[in-house]
Amino acid sequence: MTTTVRTRVAIVGAGPAGLLLSHLLAEAGIESIVVDQRTRDEIESTIRAGILEQGTVDLLAQIPGSRVHTVGTRHDGIELRFDGHGHRIDFPGLVGRSVWLYPQHEALKDLIAARLAGGQDLRFGVTVHRVEGAETDRPSVFATTADGEDLQLEADFVVGADGSRSNVRVAVAGSHTGGYFREYPFAWFGILCEAPASSEELIYSNSPDGFALISQRSATVQRMYFQCDPDADPQALSEAEIWDTLQNRVPGTTLTEGPIFQRDVLRFRSFVAHELRRGRVAIVGDAAHTVPPTGAKGMNLAVADVILLAQALESLLTRGDGGLIDGWAEKALRRIWKAQHFSWWMTSMLHVAPDASDFDRLRQLGELRSVVESEAGRTYLAEAYTGWPLEP
Ligand code: DHB
Repeated sequence: MTTTVRTRVAIVGAGPAGLLLSHLLAEAGIESIVVDQRTRDEIESTIRAGILEQGTVDLLAQIPGSRVHTVGTRHDGIELRFDGHGHRIDFPGLVGRSVWLYPQHEALKDLIAARLAGGQDLRFGVTVHRVEGAETDRPSVFATTADGEDLQLEADFVVGADGSRSNVRVAVAGSHTGGYFREYPFAWFGILCEAPASSEELIYSNSPDGFALISQRSATVQRMYFQCDPDADPQALSEAEIWDTLQNRVPGTTLTEGPIFQRDVLRFRSFVAHELRRGRVAIVGDAAHTVPPTGAKGMNLAVADVILLAQALESLLTRGDGGLIDGWAEKALRRIWKAQHFSWWMTSMLHVAPDASDFDRLRQLGELRSVVESEAGRTYLAEAYTGWPLEP
């Protein structure tokens, strides 16, 4: 037996993009249902990146109960480190904006609590199989609930905010893999450790043996990464070997060590789906595009997609005006490709390719110098890192 539920907007995925979209739609008086395959606990405990652009923070801060300004911390710059020296990029001085370190799972706790308090129909443990009717006025999502029952969501519009393994993407891009794609010959070995911060601001470090990023989570927990082989086994290194590798990648700085309680290997890829919308089905966030993590654009880009989509859906669903939705993908893609470039650029400027020649290494140092020694270079980095203003 199939239960059919009618809604105005069916949102697949309760990550930042899906939850924020349901919030913006509710503010515009548009009802939605959000479903996610994961449990609430899984969503709230998965460790993800934590740098938020100023515009993302301003939006999150408006959500009732948001802790972004109390638990999060403002970062007014980053350090680019190479050739044994650190160079600070001063964000407010260059572009008048900052970023905030607020781990994604904390933002998700705020969003889930606020949506439930606002009466949002939000269902966990729901597995979506397919979306039909993209080219009609009544697209439908076919799913199975946590109890194993068949569920059909019949909507005016369907949004796939279901991450890089999106099941909604097929209905839009024609296949799971239909997109522009690039792989990288390295990955990040990430750790969480119990230690005081080694640095007040993030350090992005290029060293002859590869990249490292020194980030934070709280006064007592730190997040650090170092460039590794994509096939590296996170369990293969001892804690002492991990600390040796990290220390060696930030020459000139001494890291404060502590017990490592989580380790993972993050693979890199750049992806943009060939299509972001077909008729009344759209994909946003990681379902539509993935960036390598250097530069922390992933979640911020998802938020930008959703702000534009919420405006377009309001116009379509409350005024019957399809002008904005017809132009939505093109507008979103302009920012997406800028962020793709920035993420690729930060990655290639800071990592050492396995086959890098002496020429490549020396050219890379020349590139890093041309950024830090020029106000124009630093300003480009600061502008992109803190987030371009949204297009009107
Ligand atoms: C973090 C991750 C990033 O990719 C980045 O560029 C900065 C910070 C983090 O996990 O803290």
